[in-house]
Amino acid sequence: MDESLINTINKLQDALAPLGGGSQSPIDLPQITVVGSQSSGKSSVLENIVGRDFLPRGTGIVTRRPLVLQLINRRSKKKDSKIDSTTEELLDLSLNNDSNNKTDDKDKKNIVKGQSEDNSEEWGEFLHLPGKKFFNFEEIRQEIVRETDKVTGGNLGISPVPINLRIYSPFVLTLTLVDLPGLTKVPVGDQPPDIERQIKDMLLKYISKPNAIILSVNAANTDLANSDGLKLAREVDPEGTRTIGVLTKVDLMDEGTDVIDILAGRVIPLRYGYVPVINRGQKDIEGKKTIRLALEDERKFFENHSSYSSKAQYCGTPYLAKKLNSILLHHIRQTLPEIKAKIEATLKKYQNELFNLGPETMDSSNSIVLSMITDFANEYAGILDGEAKELSSNEL
Ligand code: GDP
Ligand code: NA
Ligand code: MG
Repeated sequence: MDESLINTINKLQDALAPLGGGSQSPIDLPQITVVGSQSSGKSSVLENIVGRDFLPRGTGIVTRRPLVLQLINRRSKKKDSKIDSTTEELLDLSLNNDSNNKTDDKDKKNIVKGQSEDNSEEWGEFLHLPGKKFFNFEEIRQEIVRETDKVTGGNLGISPVPINLRIYSPFVLTLTLVDLPGLTKVPVGDQPPDIERQIKDMLLKYISKPNAIILSVNAANTDLANSDGLKLAREVDPEGTRTIGVLTKVDLMDEGTDVIDILAGRVIPLRYGYVPVINRGQKDIEGKKTIRLALEDERKFFENHSSYSSKAQYCGTPYLAKKLNSILLHHIRQTLPEIKAKIEATLKKYQNELFNLGPETMDSSNSIVLSMITDFANEYAGILDGEAKELSSNEL
């Protein structure tokens, strides 16, 4: 039930796309948004959570457009395969109606074939390339780079227009994550003089939504008190009730120093606390160290380190992923009644608009989209009600 609840939210996100979805969605759905300074390790953390290499990352400004990343755990797919196909049809329809996104059948059937590490169990799909399954994760990375350059002009410019990517895998927990450009002060390349302000505004747009969970990424070898990411998070979440801290680069700390004071809440306390992690360094990336090996090394590091060995189970990427999943779920449950009310209001609004246009002007593709959304919402009203009941009986 838990997984299907997050899947429901993901599908609603897609179902609402034809009504002006994305960041303009009339309904503010819960998602996890990553903030931090440039090169603090944001993209590396996301990659480790997914367990695959697919994000452009490295020194300097690499992430230059928001990436909305929906992770879908496929174990729960069979259960609601009917809904899946409805959503897929809906996605197809909405994307094919968009004149900026013309795709022909040849494109849709174009399945990118994989190499050695690839398998048919895991794949990615971009919203801007409907029907095209990427089994080769290196090609996902290339597509992100291409799409970024296409909109930003290539010379390190930034853009607030998001790239939407879904990853289907039996090895991920169902989560929606947003990777964002890092905070920076000095413009380079084609960046505008007010780059700092522009990136701040972009981040604020995502993290100021009450339903955003803020993943504040900070390098452990820099001073937490000077963290721009945490400062920004506190601006929109002063009580720290929807911010979770991640401490990267614990392996790069000076010998004899550790993050125990931060973990114990003695520096800047957060309600959800901090999780220390270790990602691959630049040399590891150049040497093509696999994530599997990196996760194993991360586990060994925490288990064998005198400061962390007694709390190793609360350290590292797998613990972070589990914690994020449960925070997201908790958050969705709390906001369920509000989401449901907004879905109903949105439906009503569009039904009225179509009704007022009159049957003769009612575009047939619009009415198909509308009826699919209506079916979809009706079907999910049951799940949402069930969840709400389960929740209230658990709380009694
Ligand atoms: P972003 O700009 O915040 O997205 O940061 P990236 O994920 O692109 O990482 C920036 C650089 O820091 C890359 O060269 C990474 O290899 C390196 N890096 C990130 N996390 C760690 C870590 O935990 N340990 C080490 N040694 N290097 C890291
Ligand atoms: Na970077
Ligand atoms: Mg990045």
